[in-house]
This record gives sequence, structure tokens and C-alpha cells, in this order.
Amino acid sequence: MNKNANMPAAGDSVVSMVGVSKSFGSTNVLRDINLEVKKGESAVVMGGSGSGKSVLIKHIVGLLKPDSGTVTVLGKHVESIWGDELDHLRLSIGYLFQSGALFDSMTVKENLQFFLDRHKNLTQQEADETILKTLEWVGLPEKLSQYPAELSGGQKKRIALARAIILEPELILYDEPTTGLDPVSVRMVSDLIVQLQAERGITSIAITHDLLCAEIISDSVHFLQDGQFLTSGSLSEISRYKDPAIASFFGDISVPTS
Ligand SMILES: Nc1ncnc2c1ncn2[C@@H]1O[C@H](COP(=O)(O)OP(=O)(O)OP(=O)(O)O)[C@@H](O)[C@H]1O
Ligand SMILES: [Mg+2]
Repeated sequence: MNKNANMPAAGDSVVSMVGVSKSFGSTNVLRDINLEVKKGESAVVMGGSGSGKSVLIKHIVGLLKPDSGTVTVLGKHVESIWGDELDHLRLSIGYLFQSGALFDSMTVKENLQFFLDRHKNLTQQEADETILKTLEWVGLPEKLSQYPAELSGGQKKRIALARAIILEPELILYDEPTTGLDPVSVRMVSDLIVQLQAERGITSIAITHDLLCAEIISDSVHFLQDGQFLTSGSLSEISRYKDPAIASFFGDISVPTS
């Protein structure tokens, strides 16, 4: 029996945020947030622009520290670890940045190589094999020598996804993985996310306002509003929740009930 009712059973939970609050100056961005994501689960965080979604996800990799509350990731208390211990935890977490964050002056291969070199001690042959295998997985092995400017938006997202998974993380955080993509590319990137979950049991937390993406990838959806989760559930449950913020977020688009 758990001493703390908010804490999941040991071994089950990959991410657990309990009572997390964060302010910048007088702006209370997160207010007493509780979130639990279990192994193999795909959680989606939705909410309006500026509602604190990116701030929330940054707490999970320790880029931001909470003013109060605890953030436990893969058994580590992220709010109280620093330096090497935090770096070590980050090796188990893939992070797809909202901006994509590829280096424009480097080829696809150099972008991936740079990331690998920083975190792993591989021979050049091992690195080449790892890069090619990962690019094949996202379906873009032929883009090895191209620069980000020579790629389409969807291809850039897939290369950023390749970089997020190249170290074979246990947990992946996606910040707007499909923003700005056409529906075909949205489906392609979303299917890759599901495939990672299905084939490798990877746990994920994705921020998205893309309903098609959320429909494809989500096991659970959490709607952030005024620094708190207004409601959590399946996408169709959330979309039917009676609240003006939800109504305006979902607009007239009806979510299929499943
Ligand atoms: N490092 C920071 N310093 C000060 N304020 C910040 C910082 N990071 C975020 N904020 C503020 O926190 C609030 C939430 O920002 P956040 O980036 O989490 O929004 P978001 O929900 O991800 O929005 P979007 O959908 O536009 O990406 C904003 O008001 C933002 O200005
Ligand atoms: Mg954001």
C-alpha cells in the first residue's frame, strides 16, 4: 500500500508530477499540477497558447525546476538532481523540441552525429550504422547528406524525431510534433510515434493542438487551462466536456467517439 495516495505503485510509473507549481515573476504558470504517466502509455497535453504546456514538459527533463512539488521520472526526483546525475537521466529521455532545433549549418548526418558524440562513445563505424538504422526507421535514409534547408517541414520533423530516438530512450517528450504539417505528414509522424510505443514499449508525453495527431497517438489527454488540468480522459471524453475553454479549443471539429 502506498503511503502517499498520489504516488503510483513502484515500477509502474514513468512520470509522476505531484503538486507542481511554477511562477515567473507574478505569473503563476503551473498551479498544483498532478500528472502520472505509466510505462508504455501515450499521454497528450492540450491547451491554449501560453497555457504552460512547454513549461510543464521542461520540468520533466529538468530544464526548469518547480517552485514547489515533486517531479519523479524513471524513479529519479528531477527537482532535486543536478549535474552528472541529471545528465545521466536525460540519456533515457528523448526530447523533440517545439522548434525542431536542427543545426542549419550541418547535414542530417552531422546533426545526428553531433548528438551521438555528445552522449555516446562509439567508433565511427558504429556511429554510421546507428545513424543509418535510425534514418531508415523514420523512412529518410536518402537524406543523410542534405541540409535542413533542403528538407520539407514534415521531413525536418522526422529527422528531429530520429535525433530524439537515436539514443533509444525509455521516455520521449514531444512538443508539437506535427505543427505546420499537412494531414498526410501529420499521419506519417503520428504513425511513427505509435510505432515507437508499440514496438519498443516507449512511454511518451506529447503536447499537441493537432486533433488528428491526438486522435492517432493518445491513450489519455490532459487539458491545461489557467495552470491546472481542467479535465483528463480520452480524447472523445475531453472534447465533450462542458466548458467554454474546451468548446473554443475544439471549435466545430467533432472528434470521433471510439
Ligand atoms: N523562461 C521563462 N521565463 C519567463 N516566462 C516564461 C518562461 N517560459 C515560459 N514563460 C511564460 O510561461 C507561460 C507559458 O508558456 P509556455 O511556453 O509553456 O506556453 P505553451 O502552452 O507551450 O504555449 P504555445 O502553445 O504557444 O507553445 C507564458 O506566459 C510564457 O511567457
Ligand atoms: Mg509551447
